[in-house]
Amino acid sequence: MLSSVLSLSLFGGAFAARLFLNEPDIGFDEFFNLADGELASLDDLVGLPDFDAAARRYMPIRNYTYYRNGAAGEWSYRNNLEVFNRYPIRPRTMIDITNIEASLPTTILGHNFSVPFFIAPCARAGFGNIEGEKGLVEAAAAENILYIPSLYATLSTAEIADLKKKDQVTFQQFYLDSDEAATQEVFDDAKANGHQAIVFTIDSPADGNRQRAVRYGVGPE
Ligand SMILES: *[C@@H]1O[C@H](CO)[C@@H](O)[C@H](O)[C@H]1NC(C)=O
Ligand SMILES: *[C@@H]1O[C@H](CO)[C@@H](O)[C@H](O)[C@H]1NC(C)=O
Repeated sequence: MLSSVLSLSLFGGAFAARLFLNEPDIGFDEFFNLADGELASLDDLVGLPDFDAAARRYMPIRNYTYYRNGAAGEWSYRNNLEVFNRYPIRPRTMIDITNIEASLPTTILGHNFSVPFFIAPCARAGFGNIEGEKGLVEAAAAENILYIPSLYATLSTAEIADLKKKDQVTFQQFYLDSDEAATQEVFDDAKANGHQAIVFTIDSPADGNRQRAVRYGVGPE
């Protein structure tokens, strides 16, 4: 009994020292040694996980929590990260990759884009930076990537439409409202502001029970 209690506390202690959950340990903290609130230089970030680590250091805890939370005890969140990382990429060698970049452009609902992925509707880019939403619209235009603003974007549909470059394609995300007229309003608004399609979130029949987020008042609307 004593040994299991002891090993539990050692286990807890070892992990408390290093935050790992959503970031692989690839030497970020040792390299940057940032104070809380300090922003890592973009030029020094070497891969996608570095953005997670940079955000954790830079953002006030409330802002960071808005993005980094999962349902209840976050068991599914952790499980999802783990199982996703178990998908191996099968290396294929002796293959001609000289024109690999030419295979990236694609169409989504008949619109041409430079890459087969898009900026998903994550809502409230303003929690990341006051200019966040503007940055997403403009970066998407600059690289010809699809941007899908959330119904709960920091800027209104009209403000986002104003920021769009000529001919920039955006889709509008929405949730079904039990009040049909409210949903119709979202559609009308999206159409009036030149979004080319709507994107329906289907896995949200009720508000999530996000305990970490509730602590900081950044839970479901
Ligand atoms: C998309 O690209 C194809 C091939 O380059 C072109 O023929 C087509 O006109 C483009 N469509 C739009 C909507 O720009
Ligand atoms: C944190 O989020 C608030 C919006 O709730 C925003 O006004 C503020 O600028 C954000 N802080 C930082 C450092 O981005």
